[in-house]
Amino acid sequence: MTRPNNSPSAAPAARSIRRLVASDIPVAHELRRLAGWNQTERDWVGYLEFEPEGCFAAEVGDRVVGTATTIRYGDRFGWVGMVLVHPEQRRTGVGTALLHAAIASLRARGVRCVKLDATPLGRNVYLPMGFQDEYGLSRFEGVAPSGSGDAASGVAPITEAILPALIAFDAEAFGAPRPAVVTTLSRRHPELGFVWRDAAGIAGYILAREGTNAVQVGPWIARDAATAWELLGHVLRRVAGRKVFLDVLEPNRAAGELMARLGFKVQRSLTRMFSGENRHPGLPERVFGISSPEKG
Ligand SMILES: CC(C)(COP(=O)(O)OP(=O)(O)OC[C@H]1O[C@@H](n2cnc3c(N)ncnc32)[C@H](O)[C@@H]1OP(=O)(O)O)[C@@H](O)C(=O)NCCC(=O)NCCS
Repeated sequence: MTRPNNSPSAAPAARSIRRLVASDIPVAHELRRLAGWNQTERDWVGYLEFEPEGCFAAEVGDRVVGTATTIRYGDRFGWVGMVLVHPEQRRTGVGTALLHAAIASLRARGVRCVKLDATPLGRNVYLPMGFQDEYGLSRFEGVAPSGSGDAASGVAPITEAILPALIAFDAEAFGAPRPAVVTTLSRRHPELGFVWRDAAGIAGYILAREGTNAVQVGPWIARDAATAWELLGHVLRRVAGRKVFLDVLEPNRAAGELMARLGFKVQRSLTRMFSGENRHPGLPERVFGISSPEKG
């Protein structure tokens, strides 16, 4: 007869880290639910598409108890996200082991700087591992106001033809080209993607997508606050009356002011952190809203 695992004399179940695969998505998504995060199962499919070899599951015995994902942004930096550990398995080193696997996988692919957006719980884990704070972020939450029609402006839907220019514009602000992320998100909800072009070229763009708990707006990138406001209005009018999340960089004071103008409130705070040399910090003054904490 096999000894039950909770018997006092049973050896603790072995822990291992392995690649996350598509069949793990339901259990990974359950870990997401337990943390109260906003991602959808479609988002998990995306992480596996972006970096099929770079997403990890922690197992205790044969049960998945933790996850971490990575994305490489060329040779400039890599991103770690979706660091989740089942509440019953926390403080046993699972989160740290997942981080080591994620960082090793990025380093093996030539990435020298690793970045992430940490929750206060995650920051406890990353600080002892040598990560440094870059700046804070605020997640704003509010209900999209219902307004009148779109104002006449340079705002237009995002088309396939404009994507190469848009990806180049985005890279300057973000700090690295991220064609896969921008292309995937823009195709997922074409009705929620807008670009502003004037004589000088692209002045801004915005994307949004369905989350589990709210519409997630971002990336939201613009040369100035007036352009950013106009772009946001185009998205909010299409999701009027619905709950919306937006993650804003604290150095971008104008973005915080636009959130206040809308009456959106800070729901939680995060910290952007990096390990290695942060040689490509991008232009935070142009980043009004990030894509998401797990992708930057
Ligand atoms: C953050 C999280 C992934 C940590 O996972 P974990 O497996 O508990 O982390 P570890 O056991 O590896 O912790 C390593 C160290 O980090 C610190 N730490 C972790 N959790 C902590 C907490 N709640 N309070 C204080 N320090 C903490 C401790 O120094 C810990 O070492 P110790 O237990 O020997 O004292 C987990 O709490 C979690 O899933 N939280 C919800 C989702 C989340 O916020 N994820 C982070 C996204 S950035």
